[in-house]
Amino acid sequence: TDRYQVVGNPIAQSKSPWIHAAFAAQTGEAIHYDRHRPEPEGFAAHAAVFFEQGRGMNVTAPYKLDAYAFAHQLTERARLAGAVNTLKKLPDGSLLGDNTDGYGLVSDITDNLGWPVAGQSLLILGAGGAVRGVLGPLLEAAPASLTIANRTLSKAEDLAQLFAHKGRIDCLPFEALNCPYDLVINATSAGLNGEMPALPDGFIGEQTRVYDMTYGAEPTPFLRWAEGQGARIRADGLGMLVGQAAEAFFVWRGVRPDVRPVLSALRAELK
Ligand code: ATR
Repeated sequence: TDRYQVVGNPIAQSKSPWIHAAFAAQTGEAIHYDRHRPEPEGFAAHAAVFFEQGRGMNVTAPYKLDAYAFAHQLTERARLAGAVNTLKKLPDGSLLGDNTDGYGLVSDITDNLGWPVAGQSLLILGAGGAVRGVLGPLLEAAPASLTIANRTLSKAEDLAQLFAHKGRIDCLPFEALNCPYDLVINATSAGLNGEMPALPDGFIGEQTRVYDMTYGAEPTPFLRWAEGQGARIRADGLGMLVGQAAEAFFVWRGVRPDVRPVLSALRAELK
């Protein structure tokens, strides 16, 4: 059976083995998919051994830059993202580095949730690796405007420059946010530590659709805050997780799984 694996640290809580087992059952593709936590600094050594047999790897924090460096070739979207979350062994034995995170986000927002992006005013909170990973596909979805707000403004400005050839990005410090946006995406890592960014009132309205790239059994701190700001339409990032996995499955197997039943089952599993 073809072997696949997700690699990260921590890895015990990863849903990826569950998701890919569900895709395999649904599509009839026979795969073996497990999880691994390498020794600190040990990504490359582990990957070299794994790919003696293995066909593909998902890579999560903190190894996406290691995977980028380890790949022999990169897709355009991985190069733009500056990170690799999917490695695929090609017929000649070389390793292709890809990034399916942005695809996962945009497909969740537009296909699963049915929220428009084209022609909408879009605000992203955060300017770290998670944001860089999704900016390409978001700009390709043709929002009317795209603004990045970050605690450290210079990091937002660096991203705007990096993506200038794909579209205009405005940058603001959190304090300067003062008018409601159509779509607000939280991509800060604050929630992972149970923290909330220090955000002002006034940039979320009743009509604003609010998305948090993190997820959990309970609403995230950011989504609870947004609810308090009056946002009625809210979603967490579980669908992004399943969407990036589905795209990786497609990259490896050439077969597109149906995301929705797997997402519903995973949501039930989280509770
Ligand atoms: P990731 O891969 O999750 O993007 P990262 O590259 O370390 O991780 O980026 C973390 C992002 O979350 C940054 O935008 C960071 O803001 P700074 O650039 O100002 O550091 C943001 N972030 C993390 N904790 C935060 C907090 N408590 N308040 C506001 N922003 C926070």
